[in-house]
Amino acid sequence: MSLLPTTWQDALAHRQRHFDLQDPDMCVRLLHGEDPSLRCDRFGSVCWFYEYATGQPAAARQLLYESFTRAAGARHWHVHAMRDRGRHPQPGQHTESADAPRSWRATENQQLFELRAGTGQSPGLFLDQRDNRAWVRQHTQGARILNLFAYTGGFGLAALAGGALEVVQVDVSPPYLDWARVNAALNGLDSDRVQYSAVDARLLVAGCRRKGRRFDGIICDPPSFGRGRGSNRRVFRVEQDLEELVRECREILEPGGWVLVSCNFEGWTQARFESVVRGIGGTIESAPGAGQDCQAAGVPPLLKSCVLRPA
Ligand SMILES: C[S@@+](CC[C@H](N)C(=O)[O-])C[C@H]1O[C@@H](n2cnc3c(N)ncnc32)[C@H](O)[C@@H]1O
Repeated sequence: MSLLPTTWQDALAHRQRHFDLQDPDMCVRLLHGEDPSLRCDRFGSVCWFYEYATGQPAAARQLLYESFTRAAGARHWHVHAMRDRGRHPQPGQHTESADAPRSWRATENQQLFELRAGTGQSPGLFLDQRDNRAWVRQHTQGARILNLFAYTGGFGLAALAGGALEVVQVDVSPPYLDWARVNAALNGLDSDRVQYSAVDARLLVAGCRRKGRRFDGIICDPPSFGRGRGSNRRVFRVEQDLEELVRECREILEPGGWVLVSCNFEGWTQARFESVVRGIGGTIESAPGAGQDCQAAGVPPLLKSCVLRPA
């Protein structure tokens, strides 16, 4: 522990005050912006480091990762190098401890998730959305829910656990939807209440509008930049496409319904993001947003989120 940089030790002490790091399955962000050269998330037994530029030799860094992992109550580590913030994955970007698993399980908000190495920058769960997922769980009893940009299904699982009547998980990527099915099955939630749709979110929403299909709640958490597939190869860019998509979502809401909107677009502050959503019309409520493990003093919050309730 003493060989760790003071910033890492302080960050860990802060997490220890708020989270039970003794729980072998728990998930928490251990380093958010305390050290600008990296971020670290713990997923159960594994610490997952996102490494930005560092000047130190790899061997010295690996000793630090090993020591931090043990101090944080985990056993294995993976390091994903984000040389260009992960925009262009290249071989050699990933290293791991000798015995690190390629697939494992961990718990968030009492739900199990399967984590996987080798599938991208993240092992399958964005921890800054934990409190927003808890909000969804509390607001979905008896509701029909549409989860756009579902990824590995986290928001949809929260809705199912919250008692949703029906959940539609939408993602352009069939492998991510298969993963969402695995996560549902792990929690005994792969029931006929859930449907999976591998289609561009914009096409799905347009189709619902045409058919008059409506929802009580919609989660719209797109990537800053995403590529369409199949018959729609149009890219999705938050700054140009989010507003129109949320407007379309409004048209397929039941009276009294809500849209939980969020994004990580670095070009917007929370205020700018909210002004875009407010322009759509209706009232804006704050969403829980990033938990205290995903905030650091002096680091502008990456996650922006709010709840829109159309008039
Ligand atoms: C940032 S992740 C979304 C995170 C997710 N909402 C969560 O629960 O944490 C982006 C996801 O959007 C999907 N995606 C990208 N462009 C899309 C599009 N046009 N329509 C539907 N899904 C898309 C990707 O395949 C990926 O799974």
